[in-house]
Amino acid sequence: SEEPLLQGKKVVVTAGGTVERIDPVRYITNDSSGKMGFAIAAAARQMGAEVVLVAGNTTEAPPEGITVERVQSGQDMYEAVLKHWQDSDIVVKSAAVADYRPKTAAPKKMKKQGETLTLELVKTIDILETLGKQKKGQFLIGFAAETDQLDTYAREKLVRKNCDLLVANDVTAAGAGFGTDTNIVHIYGPEGLVADLPLLSKDEVAKQLLELTARRMNGVLS
Ligand code: PMT
Repeated sequence: SEEPLLQGKKVVVTAGGTVERIDPVRYITNDSSGKMGFAIAAAARQMGAEVVLVAGNTTEAPPEGITVERVQSGQDMYEAVLKHWQDSDIVVKSAAVADYRPKTAAPKKMKKQGETLTLELVKTIDILETLGKQKKGQFLIGFAAETDQLDTYAREKLVRKNCDLLVANDVTAAGAGFGTDTNIVHIYGPEGLVADLPLLSKDEVAKQLLELTARRMNGVLS
């Protein structure tokens, strides 16, 4: 029998939404369930890889044989990924990381005050962009969650974040994006659109994405 496609490779996958604290009982997050990232982690494991799954907010059960590191904020996720970055072969950023967080997290529950409340938000670190700037041989896979102009934004993100592949999904399409067991993805490489996959289970999307990745790492285009 043939050797599994990702045998001997270390794969780091991020999944789920980040949690950005306002105070001990309140936070900012998003609709990511973690299903896409967990499916990728499980598929990578099945293909023989050593897998580290860095998970934000999710209720998904950890796949068998996989180390799961639980994190809250984007900053926590960044630090967890960095620990494994140097010796990883493939990094998949399927997590939905907050672009902004509250400037300060109140140490105690905030009291109700006037008729309006203004929260000051500050930019979070862009994990994928930071990795893209310092990658040395790692195969970097980004995601793009879009509601419009998917093709334009996907190409722009692939270039700016220096990805080897970028998986774009229209999160307004039925059966695609957040929370569903299925997805519809458009995969871009540096040369442009590589694959338009139909509606598939997230497990099948994960498998096809990693097969494409393995081929590309072996120098096979498309
Ligand atoms: O978790 P599910 O419910 O299964 O849903 C799957 C999904 C919709 C979350 C997934 O398919 C997806 O699209 N993930 C990326 C979500 C996202 O944050 O997209 P973005 O277009 O805002 O970010 C682009 C890329 O930069 C992503 O790889 C993201 O992880 C990364 N990023 C973004 C901001 C930031 N501060 N740091 C980052 O690394």
